Amino acid sequence: MEKLPYSFNDNNREISFNSFDLPSPWINYLSNGRMHAFVSQAAGGMLWWLSPMLFRITRYRFFNLPIDSPGFYVYIRMEDGTTWSPAFRPCDTRVDRRSASHHPGYSVFEAEKDGMKATLKLYMAQDVDSMIWEVNVTNLKGETVNCDIFAYVELAQFLAQQENILGYYLKWNTRAVFEENLQAITYAYTAWMHPRKDDSPMVYFASDVKTDSWCCNRDAFCGNYRDERNPVEVEKGVLSNTELHGGEPCGALHNHLSLNAGQTVKIHYFLGVIRGALEDYDRVISETEETLNLLRGNGYAEKQFEKLQNWWGNHLNAFHCEIPDEDAQREINIWNPLQSVHTARLSRSISSDASGVRGIGFRDTAQDMLAQAYRKPEWAKEMLMYLASQQLEDGHSVHTSWPEDRRPAQDITRSDDHIWMVYLAYAIAAETGDLSFLDEEIPYLNKDLVTPGEKATLWQHLLKGMEFTENHLGEHDLPLILFSDWNDHLGPFGRKGKGESIMVSQQYIYALRQLEEIAELRNDKELADIFNERIQKQEKALERYAWDGEWFLRGLDDDAKPVGSHSDEHARIWLNAQSWMVISGACKEKQIQAMDSAARELDTGMGLLLNTPGYPGWPSKEAAMVNGLPAGYSENGGVFCQANCWAIMAEALLGRGDMAWKYYRQLIPNNVIKKIGVEKYHGEAYAYCSTLLGKDNPEFGRACVSQVTGTAAWMDVVSTQYLLGIRPTLKGLLIDPSIPSAWDGFKVEREYRGFKLKIEVHNPDHLQHGVREMIINDNKYSVDDKAYVREDMLRKDINRITVIL
Ligand code: GLC
Repeated sequence: MEKLPYSFNDNNREISFNSFDLPSPWINYLSNGRMHAFVSQAAGGMLWWLSPMLFRITRYRFFNLPIDSPGFYVYIRMEDGTTWSPAFRPCDTRVDRRSASHHPGYSVFEAEKDGMKATLKLYMAQDVDSMIWEVNVTNLKGETVNCDIFAYVELAQFLAQQENILGYYLKWNTRAVFEENLQAITYAYTAWMHPRKDDSPMVYFASDVKTDSWCCNRDAFCGNYRDERNPVEVEKGVLSNTELHGGEPCGALHNHLSLNAGQTVKIHYFLGVIRGALEDYDRVISETEETLNLLRGNGYAEKQFEKLQNWWGNHLNAFHCEIPDEDAQREINIWNPLQSVHTARLSRSISSDASGVRGIGFRDTAQDMLAQAYRKPEWAKEMLMYLASQQLEDGHSVHTSWPEDRRPAQDITRSDDHIWMVYLAYAIAAETGDLSFLDEEIPYLNKDLVTPGEKATLWQHLLKGMEFTENHLGEHDLPLILFSDWNDHLGPFGRKGKGESIMVSQQYIYALRQLEEIAELRNDKELADIFNERIQKQEKALERYAWDGEWFLRGLDDDAKPVGSHSDEHARIWLNAQSWMVISGACKEKQIQAMDSAARELDTGMGLLLNTPGYPGWPSKEAAMVNGLPAGYSENGGVFCQANCWAIMAEALLGRGDMAWKYYRQLIPNNVIKKIGVEKYHGEAYAYCSTLLGKDNPEFGRACVSQVTGTAAWMDVVSTQYLLGIRPTLKGLLIDPSIPSAWDGFKVEREYRGFKLKIEVHNPDHLQHGVREMIINDNKYSVDDKAYVREDMLRKDINRITVIL
């Protein structure tokens, strides 16, 4: 077993690195909800404001060498010219000791060389849109040391796509200068064709000490045929004070330091924006001055850091478990909910792996917010309302939108997008117990995909979605695939408009069950009956058409031929059709056999394949069925991590705790790494990726598309609500764990509707599932139906809940 290049410290909520040349950047996100950055273990990274497509403040060279550059760079130059950095990049110089660590919302880099120590801490200010770099340089020697410190960042032309294709013209629309009064470099991208030119910001890069020299011109800073690793101006020890009026901008600031024996010098750098540079230069300059005064004020940066830590502390403390499985506990308490916040903020758009172009996926965000519905229901509701505003009047919704970018949404009608809204609405209602938000009004989106149309209540929006599905059933009463369903690559089976999706039928049933429950609470018996009829109609169709003998089919194609059948050469069994049958509650008596078939056919020991065997890659003709994906990648026989979550959920619902936990544990990135090593896995040990290459691929086990994946939210929901089984429902907080039989029990602390709960689950008989007794604050409650915790059982202070399996 190779030595791992990292270790976790769970008490500090940190991962620290002892080796830095990893097979890919392992990133952390820094954010205040408006301004965001990602930063790797080597200090490579990128900063953007509001939208990574519109206001990309710094550059990151995707898909390129040198890997993982540029970033947030600091150079320490000694008197003899030796130059090193607190992070692994930019300097290649060997140091005596180095460490780096990621924590919720901030990262720290530290190095020691020849009796000097330098630390760089990166985080986002919470109240102003500024990234803070705290640098500490310490002289550990017994004598005075002179050195020079440089902070450097490469600036971008804001409009990421245009920069890629037209940057050679547009780079002449850049202006970066050093404002003596402000002691700051200011930078503006001056193209007036910017879609939000009124918001187009002024960027500032400044520190809280007087600057000795500066440079705004990247090419002057680096020198001919050099790069950030050995910039000529750092080599010279002083920057050229070069302004930029067109060309490649950067921010470089220099200070000469003279440190007494034992002395530490602390410098804060601020890389931030002020809105509206092109509209009103004078105002922006004076606001920059005010903001810098604030940032430079005594203790301000530290207060911002404290605020950031409190935000994360509150967020993570909202659910806390103690379980006899260190890796799973770390996931559930720290890294999974952390990643869920990132995907809630960024959808699938941006990471060191993803270019930022994708905006907000409708179905993606509806799922991402499920992990916020139980921690931050207000935020989940806000996003749900936004999603509803992207639904068209016929009930279907757009597929992608860009809330900040003032560009039309993208509408290629999927059969599933609108359905996901229902689950989110239910989750919010279940967490808060408040259904009134369903009556809030929100407009539909007009067909121009830009302007708001007629208003309707959220409840009507949800019903419209159901109408859309009911109006788009195929010959066998199952929902049409349309462009695709959740599986983006399922489309070819339905291109002629007749193919039908079994997964959408299952989803439809699940949504109708939730709506039926809500309709009953709203005393709308008539509607509840309609939903019930529709459920029965779908169940009947599934009973009739879905079974293949050992497992459920994935659908019927345009010629009514089964998809995902034992008679198929490729993709003869699909995971989602099995797991979602359990979730839907349909075809009850065949569910266990279907899940057993999934286990036998699809489980690799490092995740279940989405389908198998994969279609052979190009030049086989069949590759066209999956748009040329190689065998074993993603929807073509890959381990699609998000789909694994539903298999875990299904096993938990079946009460098979051992199986559910096997599936859960085997995909925890740290466990995969323990099995195959960092070099083979590639991805972060603390964040889920979208897909692992499946066994049809020679690189079986390799993580693809890290960080921005629906796996984050679903693993979060599945582990807390189905494995540990603390599940908000409209009847109360259901306690319904499915756990490994080996466990003696576990503990959870959770907030619920303003109450604090301390839950202890005991498992004296080593069962996998099934609550027999529930005691709340010494009162015993019947669990005939199920163990629901209701508000009327709770009191204002701590509530002790004991549950016995
Ligand atoms: C990606 C997409 C998601 C889709 C899935 C399967 O994760 O973001 O919308 O459902 O792939 O195709």
